[in-house]
Amino acid sequence: MPIRSLGYLRLRTAKLEEWRTFGTDVLGLMPVEGRTPGALHFRIDDRPPRLVIRPSDGPGIDALGFEVADDRELAEVVSHVKGAGIGVLDGTGDEAAERCVQSFVRLQDPNGTPVEVYYGPVLDHRRLDTPLVSGFVTGVMGMGHAVIAAPDMAASYRFWTEVMGMRIRSSMRLAMGPDTTMSIRFLGCNPRHHTVALMESPFPGDLVHFMLEVETIDDVGMLLDRCEQRGVALQASLGRHTNDRVLSTYLVGPEDAAVEIGTGGVRVDDATWTTDEITKVSFWGHKFVPAATAKLKG
Ligand SMILES: [Fe+2]
Repeated sequence: MPIRSLGYLRLRTAKLEEWRTFGTDVLGLMPVEGRTPGALHFRIDDRPPRLVIRPSDGPGIDALGFEVADDRELAEVVSHVKGAGIGVLDGTGDEAAERCVQSFVRLQDPNGTPVEVYYGPVLDHRRLDTPLVSGFVTGVMGMGHAVIAAPDMAASYRFWTEVMGMRIRSSMRLAMGPDTTMSIRFLGCNPRHHTVALMESPFPGDLVHFMLEVETIDDVGMLLDRCEQRGVALQASLGRHTNDRVLSTYLVGPEDAAVEIGTGGVRVDDATWTTDEITKVSFWGHKFVPAATAKLKG
């Protein structure tokens, strides 16, 4: 059984106060108390904080956290990882408690991106309070998606499909010059079109962007209003993607962290889905500002 969803994202930053304002007042996440000392913890549903950002001397990724169903599935993942000759470490009891999960392991993908796999999130039954957003779309589809660098596409693709059990949903070849193309592969493990996307290009950071899905078009529109009011730059304008059909925009967060907020994603049924190749990123919009690129490294 594959990974079930992207469960959490743990980042670090030298701009904690900027993240506090950006997360709460721009993205509309719910700030809560958490177990990582000095860190910001944000909820978007009844799960433990999906986004945790700890103070550090610069930006980076501590972990992309992926959920499996239970202890048996975690053991299966561990055996696949070991079978592929990749090192895997058990998280300690204290570290699991810090993440509000029953148990987890840590490893790295072929690009060195830090990955954790866990089961048994400890739920928070206090009412979710996100006054700026009508709701975030999570459930079986998890937190959202992450686009990560994969300079060695063949190795990364093997890892994420054969070891982690994801399926190829769509791919794209971007022309980078007369004779060169860059490949992007969109991988899924639940009805969300992609949970991880691999970008072949050498990129200044490992995490190209992460995406959260909101309930309504108005949630995206009001986010754009808040960005304008608060002077938050867009990395890309409003647009509609061709692969997951998401209507979204991309924000430039603290320390150039790129965040996609969108709505209306297609729901994939693996029984009927066959992989496709897109030839354009978006039907319309998504005009990128090249200067604004994420620089988050593991
Ligand atoms: Fe995206």
